Amino acid sequence: MSFVDVIAKKRDGRALSREDIEGFVNGVTAAEIPEYQAAALLMAIVIRGMSDQETAWLTDAMLRSGDRVDLSDLPGVKVGKHSTGGVGDKVSIVLAPLAAACGVVVPKMSGRGLGHTGGTLDKLEAIPGYRTDLTIDEFKQVLRRVGASIVGPTSALAPADKRLYALRDVTATVASIPLIAASVMSKKLAEGGDGLVLDVKCGDGAFMKSEPEARELARTLVAIGTQAGLRTEALITTMDAPLGRAIGNAVEIVECLETLKGRGPDDLVALSTALAARMLVLAGRAGEAEADRVVQRALASGAALDKMRALIEAHGGDSRVVDDYGRLPQAARRCAIRAAHDGYIERLRAELVGRASMALGAGRRRMNDAIDRGAGVLVMKKPGEAVHAGETVLELLYNDARELAEASAFAHEAIHVSAAPPVLPPLIRGRVA
Ligand code: URA
Repeated sequence: MSFVDVIAKKRDGRALSREDIEGFVNGVTAAEIPEYQAAALLMAIVIRGMSDQETAWLTDAMLRSGDRVDLSDLPGVKVGKHSTGGVGDKVSIVLAPLAAACGVVVPKMSGRGLGHTGGTLDKLEAIPGYRTDLTIDEFKQVLRRVGASIVGPTSALAPADKRLYALRDVTATVASIPLIAASVMSKKLAEGGDGLVLDVKCGDGAFMKSEPEARELARTLVAIGTQAGLRTEALITTMDAPLGRAIGNAVEIVECLETLKGRGPDDLVALSTALAARMLVLAGRAGEAEADRVVQRALASGAALDKMRALIEAHGGDSRVVDDYGRLPQAARRCAIRAAHDGYIERLRAELVGRASMALGAGRRRMNDAIDRGAGVLVMKKPGEAVHAGETVLELLYNDARELAEASAFAHEAIHVSAAPPVLPPLIRGRVA
């Protein structure tokens, strides 16, 4: 069948065969299918969808487009974590040392920020010397020594996803449950763990704006993982406002360290400990009833903070930042964004706060843009909190004032003040196992 016929098949709402899907993925990986044809099929998939069987075949073909990491020679149960992405989402940096302090081995391959969402690798690289580009052998050595390692993916893992994601990014074809599921799970299966905990975000700052969509994505991700032999679970969590009170790179590292010292913001603590507890259960390190207690103990005893120090050192980073935040990149200037009238913060729109942070230089518009690791946004008033006219709601941190006007416009637009206290959705909306 010619590739035009494959596109027409999906355009007309018919199911693709395994052969069609493998031909597509192999053709994209080898650059034999022109981008305009690949984009046409992607758009047909966005509009027509895919069955679970087609999505599983797509994931498998993308997984087999590259190598798989073999962690089988490492002792212990290896459990990964993945978030579908949000603003101020720094959970991995708290959770990796926390779960490792409880005896779970945490191999974590993370990404960079793009658009309004931040990236774990950019945040970690705010720590002087921290290397995210370890070889697979170095990654395994750190896992053996420390029990957790957070690195960038190697180009040999799921190369089909790299090509497809770049194409989806510029053809409005990111927001599709089968495409997101295959993209995420092909990479996670290539990473070689035994289990996986997923944080599927739902709300204004997430790909999935509604809870039914987020549940469907979670169900699809868990089904693919389970079918492939990976113990997989997902939490569905709210991403309407930024997580925690810091958005940026160095400022998010400070917030993670504060959290590991027992002084973190409530939402970040709740989500990090809930996900870490699920990792313990999946790894068989604790039963349902005790997992949360074990995690809380590792936080309170300082064991998780000690793991963080060891993790930073093993990656070549300067662990003195743990006690001296002045060693992290700083912003020279600040600008307060104030409430226009009295009331309660009803909404603090995550996507717009993320855009403000990006405009200040903390994020990138294009994959190769340089970023300012000292820049970002601090949240002084969270949704539900009372505010008086003239009080600071957001503080913009910057070194370069060129985009300050744009950042300030996004920040003002992000803030909604209501006369009565708002009813906020729960942070954790459910679990799919
Ligand atoms: N994250 C991914 O890795 N892939 C997607 O398609 C969307 C979010």
